[in-house]
Amino acid sequence: MKIAVLPGDGIGPEIVAQAVKVLEALRSDGLKIEMEHAHIGGAGYDAAKDPLPEATLDLSKASDAVLLGAVGGYQYDNLPRPMRPEQGLLRIRKGLGLFANLRPAMVYPELVNASTLRSDIVSGLDIMILRELTGDIYFGQPRGIRTLENGERQGFDTMHYSESEVRRVAHVGFQIAMKRNKKLCSVDKANVLDTSMFWREIVTEVAKEYPQVALSHMYVDNAAMQLVRAPKQFDVILTGNIFGDILSDEASMLTGSIGMLPSASLDESNKGLYEPCHGSAPDIAGKDIANPLATILSVAMMMQYSFGRADIAQRIEAAVRKVLQQGLRTGDIYEEGKQKVGCAAMGDAVVAA
Ligand code: NAI
Ligand code: MG
Repeated sequence: MKIAVLPGDGIGPEIVAQAVKVLEALRSDGLKIEMEHAHIGGAGYDAAKDPLPEATLDLSKASDAVLLGAVGGYQYDNLPRPMRPEQGLLRIRKGLGLFANLRPAMVYPELVNASTLRSDIVSGLDIMILRELTGDIYFGQPRGIRTLENGERQGFDTMHYSESEVRRVAHVGFQIAMKRNKKLCSVDKANVLDTSMFWREIVTEVAKEYPQVALSHMYVDNAAMQLVRAPKQFDVILTGNIFGDILSDEASMLTGSIGMLPSASLDESNKGLYEPCHGSAPDIAGKDIANPLATILSVAMMMQYSFGRADIAQRIEAAVRKVLQQGLRTGDIYEEGKQKVGCAAMGDAVVAA
C-alpha cells in the first residue's frame, strides 16, 4: 500500500500525524504500508511558490492512495487566486480525476447529544452523500468579471454537466445504494436550471440498470430543509458539485461536529484521496486541540475503498467507537462528565484501542 501523505496547513499536520500513527500501528501489525510526505496548499506555496507543486502531483499519481489534511490560512488570503491554497485542492482532484466524493454522515450513539438537533431526530442516522467533484460551476468556463456595454461590471460563472460526467457518478451512486439500503435520492434544481433538468434525465436513464434501487428526486432547497427536518428519510444522496458542497456541510452538523466526518474522493479505478470534511481550522491550529477522528476515519475509508480491506476499516472504526465509549473527547465534542483530551492523546488512544 503506497500512500502519499499531504498534511497541508493549519491543523492539517497535527491531525494527519494521528492518522499516520494508526497506519504505523497497522504496519507493525504486518500490513505492507509505504508512506511518503509532500506539500500541498499554503505549505506548497511556501516551499515551491505553488499550491500543488509538480513533485506532489507526481507522487500522488504514483501512489495507490493519498491521505490529505486540509489547506488554507489567513496569511494566504491576499494571494492571487491561482496561488491560493484552495487551488491546490481543486487541481489535485482534477489532476487525479477524482470525480466521486463520498461523504458519510453518521451519528455515533456516544455522541447523540453533541448534535444541535434533538436526539430523536438524529439518533441512528447513517446517510451517504455522494457529491460529483470535478464538474459543475466550480470548473465551468467561461468565468470572470467583465464590463458590460453600459459600463457596469458583472461577475459570472458557468454551470454545465456533460452526459458522461453525470453517467459515471450516477453509476457510483447506484452501486453504493445496492450495497446499502437500495434507496437513492438525486438532488438538483430541475425546476429552474437546464443543467439540472439534464442531470435528472440522465440519472433516470442510468436507474434503469438498477431496478432494485428505489430512485427519488428532490429539489435542493427542499433537500436542505428535509435534512434538518427529518434526515433519516435519506439513505444515499446523489448530487452535483456545488449542491453537494453545501448539503454535505449541512449534514455534517447533524452528527455533532465536522471534526468527526471523513471523506473519500475516487476515480474510475477506486484510486482515491482521503481527507476529513473540515478545513484547516486556523483558529485552533498549533494548540493540540483539534479532533483527529475525521482523519483517522478517512484512513478507514481508504482501507475499504482503495485497498478492498473492509476488515481493517472495521477495526479502525471499532477503535474509534471504543475511545468514545471510554469517554475521551476533544473540545469540539466535549460534554459534561467526559474526559477532555488533546489531538495527540486522542490519536494515541485510538492506536491503543
Ligand atoms: P473549517 O472547517 O476549517 O473550520 C470551521 C470551524 O470548525 C472552526 O471553528 C474550526 O475550529 C472548527 N473545526 C474544523 N475542524 C475541526 C477539528 N478537526 N476539530 C475541532 N474543530 C474543528 O472551515 P473555515 O473556518 O471556513 O475555513 C478555514 C480555512 O480552511 C480556509 O482557508 C478555508 O478555505 C479552508 N478550507 C479547506 C478545506 C479543505 O482543505 N478541504 C475545506 C474547507 C475550508
Ligand atoms: Mg465546503
